[in-house]
Amino acid sequence: MSPSPAERAEALRRQIDEAGTAYHERDEQLIPDAEYDRLVRELEALERDHPELAVADSPTQRVGGKASSRFAEVRHAVPMLSLGNAFSDEEVQDFVRRISERLRRDALYFSAEPKLDGLAISLRYENGRFVQGATRGDGSTGEDVSANLRQIAVIPQELQGAGWPDVLEVRGEVYMARADFEAYNAQARLHDGKVLANPRNAAAGSLRQLDPKMSARRKLSFYAYGTGQVEDGDLPPTHSATLAQLRAWGFPVSELCQVVEGSAGLLAYYRDIGERRDGLAFDIDGVVYKLDDRAGQETMGFVSRAPRWAIAHKFPAQEQTTTVEAIEIQIGRTGAATPVARLNPVAVAGVIVSNATLHNADQIQRLDVRVGDTVIVRRAGDVIPEVVSVIAERRPAGTTPWQMPAQCPVCGSEIVREEGEAVWRCSGELSCPAQRKEAIAHFASRRAMDIDGLGGKYIETLVDAGIVRSVADLYRLTRDQLLHLKLVLDADTPEALAAQIGLHLPPEGSGDYLRAILQLDGSDAGWRAKALAMPTAFAWNTRKIATRWADNLIAAIDASRDTTLERLLFALGIENVGENTSKGLSTWFGDLELIRHLPWPLFKRVPDIGGEVARSLGHFF
Ligand code: IVH
Repeated sequence: MSPSPAERAEALRRQIDEAGTAYHERDEQLIPDAEYDRLVRELEALERDHPELAVADSPTQRVGGKASSRFAEVRHAVPMLSLGNAFSDEEVQDFVRRISERLRRDALYFSAEPKLDGLAISLRYENGRFVQGATRGDGSTGEDVSANLRQIAVIPQELQGAGWPDVLEVRGEVYMARADFEAYNAQARLHDGKVLANPRNAAAGSLRQLDPKMSARRKLSFYAYGTGQVEDGDLPPTHSATLAQLRAWGFPVSELCQVVEGSAGLLAYYRDIGERRDGLAFDIDGVVYKLDDRAGQETMGFVSRAPRWAIAHKFPAQEQTTTVEAIEIQIGRTGAATPVARLNPVAVAGVIVSNATLHNADQIQRLDVRVGDTVIVRRAGDVIPEVVSVIAERRPAGTTPWQMPAQCPVCGSEIVREEGEAVWRCSGELSCPAQRKEAIAHFASRRAMDIDGLGGKYIETLVDAGIVRSVADLYRLTRDQLLHLKLVLDADTPEALAAQIGLHLPPEGSGDYLRAILQLDGSDAGWRAKALAMPTAFAWNTRKIATRWADNLIAAIDASRDTTLERLLFALGIENVGENTSKGLSTWFGDLELIRHLPWPLFKRVPDIGGEVARSLGHFF
C-alpha cells in the first residue's frame, strides 16, 4: 500500500533533515544535491496540495543548518536568505512574469551571475576595517569564522577608495578554485593525507577548521555577490552598480556578472555560461538572476526563505546516486590495473553513466566501495565519471571489502605491485592482449605516428582475431582486410550480416569466430565478392564510406613510415619515455640502430635521463 500524504511528508522531512544536518553541521554529504532538491520539491508540492501538512518546523520553512557550537555564534542583523530554484525555461519565464505583473512593468533588467559552488559568508566592515566574518548557519545565526577568513588573501582587511558606509556587510561565496583543489589533493595523496571529495566540501571544511593554520594550507578564494546590513551611508540604486562599487572598494566580483533584459536575456545568459562552464577556473552549479533595481526588489519582498526578486537557475546535476553492480579491472598500456565500477545506469548531467573509475586500489580502500553499495557518482565536463563516495547507510548486509585480484582478468598473468608504488600492474607485458591493444592505440595516436581512423573498436577486433599482434603487423594490413573489418563492425550485428550472406559462424567470442566473420584468410574469394556486392545488407552509401575509410587508413599507415625518430621513439610506448625524453634521445643519438644496441647504463650520460629511464630503455630493446 502506498503511504498517505501525511506519512510521505513525514518521511521526506526526516530524510531532508538528516541530509541537511549532516551537510551543514558535519560537512558530510549523504545524498547528492540533485536528490536533495528533488526531495524538497516533492515536499513543497505535498504541502501546497495539503496545506494542513505544512508544519512550522518543516525544512521547507528553514534555511541551511544550525550553527555548530565549536565557533562563537553571530546573529545576522539582516538575515542571510536562500534562493528559490528554477530547473526549466518555463520556471524562469514564470519568475519573470510574476515580477512583471506585480510591478506592472514590461521591460525588466536583471543582474545575471554565476552561482558559485562554495559556502555563503557575510563580512562585516566598520569604518572601512574588517571586523568579523560569519557563515550563514540557519540564516539568522551563523558561526564566527573571522580567523579563517583572515587567511584568504583576496578578502580586503581594509577597504580601498572612499565613500563606504560606516557599517557595511558584504556577502559572497567562499570557494576553492579547481586548480587549488587538485593541487591540495595531489599533496594529500603524496603524504597519505585525507583526500577531499570536491571543491565545495573542501571550501566548507577548510573554513570550519578550528586551527586557522590548517585552513591557510588550503587555498580559498572569495567572490562578492551582495550586501547585508548597511548603516550611515548609501549604496547605488541598482544591484549591478553596487557590485561595481564593491569592486572599487577592493572586493573580487565575478567577471561573468552581466545585466540582461527579460526572460530571453536570462535564458541566453544561462546557455552561454553553460557552454563555458567546463572551462571556468571554479565549479558552478547554475546561475543566479536578480532584479537589478532595488526599489523593485523592495516591492517584491520575500517569501519564507527566499526573495521573490531573485532565483537560482540550476544546471543539470553532475552528481547522482546509483548502485555498484560489479568492480572490474581495466588494464592500461603499461599494465596498470585500474578498478572500474560497473553501475546501474544513471543519467548524470544529461549522459547515461554505467561505468565510473575508482582510480586505484588505494582509492577503493579509502572509500571502501563494495559491490552492492549505493554510491554518489560525478561527471564533470569531459572528465571520466568517478565514484565520489559511498552512502554507508544504504549498504546491504553481507558485503565484503574489495580486493585486487591476484591474476590479470585478460591474460591470467600475476598482478603485482612494486615496492613504494601506488599502482598494481599486470606482469604480462605485451603478451597481454589488453596491453597490446593499448600499445597499438598509443602507437597510432595523433602525437605519436598519427594514424588517423584506427579507432579502439577496430584495434580491439584486429588484436582479438590475431591479425595484429604487434605494431609491425599494422604495416601488413591490406585494403580488403580493412574494408571487411569496417563493414562487419559497423553492421548492426555480425550475425545479421552473416545471415544475409549465408555464412556459418563458429561459436561467438572465439578467434575462429572473428576470423570467420572477417573472412580475412582470403581462402573464400567467393564470400568476399559477395560481401562486397551486398546491396541488401548495406546501402550503397555505407559501402562508399567504408571504402573511403579503408583507403584513407592505408594511406595514413603508409605515410607514417616517413616519420621522425623522435615520434617513433615516443610511439613505441617505452615505460617512462614520454615526448620530452624521446626528443632528447633523438637529438643525442640521431639513429635508431644506435639506440637499440646501446648498453643501457650509457643512456644515463644523456642530460635529463636518470637510472629509471635508462633501465626502461634497456629493458625494452
Ligand atoms: S544571492 C538573497 N548570488 O547560493 C539572495 N547567491 O542557493 C541570497 N550563491 O546561499 C543569495 N552564487 O551561497 C547569490 N551570485 C550569487 C551566488 C549565490 C552562489 C549561493 C549562496 C546562497 C545559495 C542559495
